[in-house]
Amino acid sequence: MNGGLEVRPIFWDGDTCVILDQRYLPQEEKYIRCSTAEEVIDAIKNMAIRGAPAVGLAGAAAVALGARTLLGASGKDAFFKGLNHFCDVVRKARPTGYNLEWAVEVMRSTAVEHVQDSIEEIVELLRNKAKELIEEDVAINRNIGRWGKTVIPQGARILTYCNAGSLATGGYGTALGVIRAAWEEDRTIQVFACETRPYLQGARLTVYELMKDGIPVVLITDNTAGYLMQKRRIDVIVVGADRIAANGDVANKIGTYTLAVLAKHHGIPFFVAAPRSTIDPRTPKGDSIVIEERPSKEVTSIGKRPIAPKDTRALYIAFDVTPHRYISGIITEVGIIVKPFSKNLKEALFK
Ligand code: MRU
Repeated sequence: MNGGLEVRPIFWDGDTCVILDQRYLPQEEKYIRCSTAEEVIDAIKNMAIRGAPAVGLAGAAAVALGARTLLGASGKDAFFKGLNHFCDVVRKARPTGYNLEWAVEVMRSTAVEHVQDSIEEIVELLRNKAKELIEEDVAINRNIGRWGKTVIPQGARILTYCNAGSLATGGYGTALGVIRAAWEEDRTIQVFACETRPYLQGARLTVYELMKDGIPVVLITDNTAGYLMQKRRIDVIVVGADRIAANGDVANKIGTYTLAVLAKHHGIPFFVAAPRSTIDPRTPKGDSIVIEERPSKEVTSIGKRPIAPKDTRALYIAFDVTPHRYISGIITEVGIIVKPFSKNLKEALFK
């Protein structure tokens, strides 16, 4: 059986949260050891850790580390006031991915449910919860893989975008979890990874982790995807998601929409793989999702190397929204959700 050697983007070492600094990949595996909420927030904002589920896990870690600084609070009221402050700051670190909001809310409600405990106990509980969420996420991704592999035929040529792998989650990955699960079943597959300009998550991260696992992967420039679809060289597309609106519209890395429209045109199935913690039941449709804009220097340079004239004006809209009509199914840990998405997503959230 094919097996995996997944990388872990976030883990705990005692009271320290350790984050694999993805900005240095694939050249170097450098780790950031965080003992304060601020260090984790900085890692999120500056892309040391990225991918909606991984950002959520880092957010939970930030809340847990923030809570630790409140051990000396003068009483429960002061503790909860401080905790709410950390939650509010953490949830704003990146606006588009829903998992961050979700994870912060899990942390806040865990503390509230234990309001009768001592502050020391709540702080301990929050650290354990942040750790647990990582392991739960890996288990969820394995279930996403179990459902998702059913849409990957033997011999499939699979297109994926950005990085929705181990590095974007607690481990195993969502879209790459589907691919891993098919591979672990000894299915012959061929992955095409779009490089994903400007931040190159596909080239730097997806290719890196698939190669580590020995999964056949070919890197393509983003503008090659349409050609391959037209030439019938892609059988199925699987991508991740940052936020799924209640009607099934999906926010994901900028360029996902383009792929989905092309897939529809060419009759290629287009699947989104995501945990239920990406489904935002309070956002009715995609047009109300806040889309992050990032600094233009992330477009005008690759790493530290400029690729455009000095003072070039550039626009980096980090995500787009794919309307649900382009989506064949949303692969979650409880099954593959198909149309009508509004009804079926709601039901999935209550399973
Ligand atoms: O800007 P990033 O790298 O955080 O964007 C990541 C993506 O768009 C992923 O596809 C998405 O978060 C799903 S990851 C399982």
